Amino acid sequence: MTHIRAPRGTIDVFPEKPGIWQRLEETVRSVCRNAGYTEIRTPIFEHTELFQRGVGESTDIVEKEMYTFLDKGERSITLRPEGTAPVVRAYLEHKMWAGPQPVKVYYIGPMFRYERPQLGRLRQHTQFGVEALGASSPALDAEVISILISVYQHLGLSGFVVRLNSIGCSECRPRYKESLVNLLSEHVDELCADCRRRLRRNPLRVLDCKNERCAILAKELPPIFEYLCEDCSRHFGGVTECLKALDLVYELDPTIVRGLDYYTKTVFEVVHSGLGAQDALGGGGRYDGLAEELGGTQTPGVGFAAGIERAVQVLQDAGDKETSTDAGEVTVFIAAMGDEAKIEAFRITHALRKQGISTDIDYLDRSLRAQMKYADRQGVKTVVIIGEDELKGDYVIVRDMVTGEQTRVPFGDLIKILTQNTILSKDLKLPREK
Ligand code: HAM
Repeated sequence: MTHIRAPRGTIDVFPEKPGIWQRLEETVRSVCRNAGYTEIRTPIFEHTELFQRGVGESTDIVEKEMYTFLDKGERSITLRPEGTAPVVRAYLEHKMWAGPQPVKVYYIGPMFRYERPQLGRLRQHTQFGVEALGASSPALDAEVISILISVYQHLGLSGFVVRLNSIGCSECRPRYKESLVNLLSEHVDELCADCRRRLRRNPLRVLDCKNERCAILAKELPPIFEYLCEDCSRHFGGVTECLKALDLVYELDPTIVRGLDYYTKTVFEVVHSGLGAQDALGGGGRYDGLAEELGGTQTPGVGFAAGIERAVQVLQDAGDKETSTDAGEVTVFIAAMGDEAKIEAFRITHALRKQGISTDIDYLDRSLRAQMKYADRQGVKTVVIIGEDELKGDYVIVRDMVTGEQTRVPFGDLIKILTQNTILSKDLKLPREK
């Protein structure tokens, strides 16, 4: 029979990796909490319409990348490709607009996109992100950018660049689009097939096309800054002023237009050259029209999301070999010989765990020697040995695996010995069950 493999574009996170994953997630949580963001968990699947209306019918995500299916009740369901539309849906559904504003939330979780898998591009990837709803202050745009940068700084991740742009609003963007169409219509033959299509549906996307000839053409196009209305211009000035106040270094990049339709005004991406073709560590921006698009009242919003697998890749390339402190790390191993001793070892293991001492035993009927070897390979610091003689004598042998020193310990003093120098259960006795 053939082995079943994981679906293309998905990964398993192996035991040596959770160290980085956990450190990353803990860093996200502490940086976000520190800035007043609380966690939100939305469903992994939503009604397809949420993304059709939220992300936009003409985007690559909705056009070709969604995992969509009919459930048994004939409803069209989609595995979430991103987290912003679900958060805004939850904000409206639970009338979060009625409470104090802005509502500031963060999330960590899997997203699903049927893309062509390649290095850094998966069909299931994990994002951490924040969304701040109910305030249009440019300081909030700068805050979310600074949160993303803080996460990377706390992780010791360096070498990234912040690219910043504004894509205007429903007042000024159509003017810009029109002039792009006019200018590009003279060069239709030079555009790639995708961009020829985009020219009609979303000419802004020509600006960030990866095709070499399209990129050359894009360089010649006027930047949007010249077309922004007064409000968008003032807002953008406010964002850059706040970023400067934080000494946060950024580059103005008129080719950052983002691949989701909900953006207004500020857009940004954080890129890292070590990632190759898929160089975006994270991205986001303002989306002041999204709540209305989803049937709610006009609510300003701004946020970002960033890929965890991509951050892990950069950290690992930089030599981050840190392992987890809590990924099943065992400090005590009870090695037992004989049926009675094994039952005793099982009982002691659970008693020690109750006292907060991470403990394990053998489940493979190994010889004593093999148990010691196994414990050593697991990096266990202390092994407790129980055999027939020990049972009879009401004592155990405690072996320090670092020095090799062995001590005979009365059974009732075992926990005390094992917790020596800690405040844990110092005076506890482990009663021997006869
Ligand atoms: P996005 O740029 O589509 O934005 O995705 C955010 C990040 O997720 C990317 O920068 C990248 O690191 C990671 N990512 C996306 N697709 C993949 C993939 N196929 N494989 C691996 N990593 C991937 C959003 O999703 C918006 N919701 C961000 C946002 C939040 N805007 C405002 N608030």
